[in-house]
Amino acid sequence: MKDTREQLSAMTVGLHWLIAAAIIGMLAFGLYIDSLERSPERTSLMDLHKSIGVTILALACLRMLWRWRNGFPVLLGQAPRWQKAAAHAVHGLLLLATVLMPLTGILSSIGGGHGLPLFGLTLVADDGVRQETLHAIGETHGAIAWILIVLIGIHVAAALKHQVIDRDGTMRRMWGWRISG
Ligand code: HEM
Ligand code: HEM
Repeated sequence: MKDTREQLSAMTVGLHWLIAAAIIGMLAFGLYIDSLERSPERTSLMDLHKSIGVTILALACLRMLWRWRNGFPVLLGQAPRWQKAAAHAVHGLLLLATVLMPLTGILSSIGGGHGLPLFGLTLVADDGVRQETLHAIGETHGAIAWILIVLIGIHVAAALKHQVIDRDGTMRRMWGWRISG
């Protein structure tokens, strides 16, 4: 089922909330791991961070394909043009960041010679060989994380404005409810 103005598809709703929860959790998890001293526990937490991140990449790619086929949900309410343009820009950047975060993480890990784990499997072996260019690109991981945190802040503030001030059904629709007119 495709998205319509009155009701969003289960795919849009399911992927939005699954990826939203996973991304917010991973931002907190990444910052927490970053604050730990080097230890075997930190390494296994980092492996878990990487494995969840690779899984998010697969989901985020699926979502990109879905958005490309389906387009973005039609915006509700009577917002001025600049606000609609801003909403589209923030949605586009959020989608991009959900792909760039795992990709830069993967480059940081492989470029640092640490390979790529996936829940006990080895996708790329840990060979200890540093590849400076890959690692340098991967170093944008932390910076993109902070940009993403700001974007999520703007996005959630806008969602609350729709809910509390505009009362236009935007939030209800993102929970899968059918809205009228
Ligand atoms: C508690 C947190 C969040 C709330 C309350 C929330 C709420 C919403 C709502 C109400 C919409 C519908 C907008 C519309 O119909 O015009 C939406 C769309 C969207 N949200 Fe969120 N959101 C949250 C977190 C996130 C996060 C963490 C991300 C990405 C990292 C994200 C990415 C998107 C994107 C890309 C869209 C456009 C439609 C789509 O592709 O699914 N959201 N959000
Ligand atoms: C949605 C996915 C991801 C999110 C939201 C995320 C978030 C974060 C955050 C917030 C940090 C701390 C940033 C800092 O150093 O200031 C971090 C660090 C790190 N993450 Fe991720 N991460 C994701 C996916 C991945 C993946 C897939 C990998 C590797 C396969 C990875 C590898 C790393 C590494 C190696 C660090 C520590 C050093 C660095 O910043 O490069 N991350 N991550």
